[in-house]
Amino acid sequence: MPKLILAYSGGLDTTTAITWLSEERGYEVIALNINAGMSRDQDTLEERGIAAGASKVLVMDVREDFLRYFAFPALAAGAIYQSTYPLATALARPLMAKLLVETAHNENAVAVAHGCTGKGNDQVRFDIGIQTLDPDLKIVAPAREQSLSREEEIDYLQKKGIAIEWEPKGSFSIDENIWGRSCEAGVLEDPWIEPPEEAWEWTNSVDKTPTKPKEIEITFERGIPTKLQRKTLDPVDLVGQLNELGGTYGIGRADHVEDRLIGIKSRELYEAPAAVLLHISHRALESLTLSRRQLRMKQYVSEEYADLIYDGHWFSRHHQDLATYVISTQRNVSGSVRLKLH
Ligand code: ARG
Repeated sequence: MPKLILAYSGGLDTTTAITWLSEERGYEVIALNINAGMSRDQDTLEERGIAAGASKVLVMDVREDFLRYFAFPALAAGAIYQSTYPLATALARPLMAKLLVETAHNENAVAVAHGCTGKGNDQVRFDIGIQTLDPDLKIVAPAREQSLSREEEIDYLQKKGIAIEWEPKGSFSIDENIWGRSCEAGVLEDPWIEPPEEAWEWTNSVDKTPTKPKEIEITFERGIPTKLQRKTLDPVDLVGQLNELGGTYGIGRADHVEDRLIGIKSRELYEAPAAVLLHISHRALESLTLSRRQLRMKQYVSEEYADLIYDGHWFSRHHQDLATYVISTQRNVSGSVRLKLH
């Protein structure tokens, strides 16, 4: 049987995809769970994956690489899409594409698969990333070929004799990793409706925030954050602690109507306390360490950089050129920034 590597979240959609790819398409499916900060426990992943018919389930914790090689360079570049979205999902996709391709090579697989539908940005990011890194790999996207409702998926699995206990259906479509959380669909599709409180998970609403402000200090070395409260921390701890702190103070919420790259508008709620605190501090430090002309040029570059990440062009020559410029600008962006959270 030809082998296929599937990007596996452990949710209903990608679990159904395992069964569909093996039963209807005749692949040996290896399910690859890439944890960039949206974690399901390993036992659940393995149980579900194997029950659905995967030959094995691989789990990778890539949070540190994700921050070091994707999120932090985007921070140094000042990349924020449409002045609002710190690009958490968009930054994780190229890393996932890379790991799919590498795993395919290690396992002698002929194909890779992802669970994206035909309506979003993520399909484009996966497709471009995979095709750039290995144009010979076949890409299969089950949810793009036939879109099943939740009930139809459960029904399909049941007919195949696969019984899995699912979490109750949420009201929104959520994606999260350590750089941020996104929430879309459901009642949010009407832009006139205020987001219900349960749409937010990482951040307190203002009336629940502490009344006493808190001062924090973040240290950067050449544009990369290295310390919090003068203590050197690894990226996962630093960002994790800032998410906690910022979230407690209600920092990092956004309610945004965004332009998807396939040309439709979509309402998105974002929560990214650490990313927002880090972007604000980084910009403040740049205001001291870059000249007026550097700052202006950097602003153009930031926008271009954000668009290329959003559009899935991480592995491109254009990115290499922009990154070279950004790294050069960061040679003096070292020092500490004090913030008062309130
Ligand atoms: N709109 C954001 C983006 O395109 C978030 C997408 C979240 N994905 C999802 N499957 N819910 O990057």
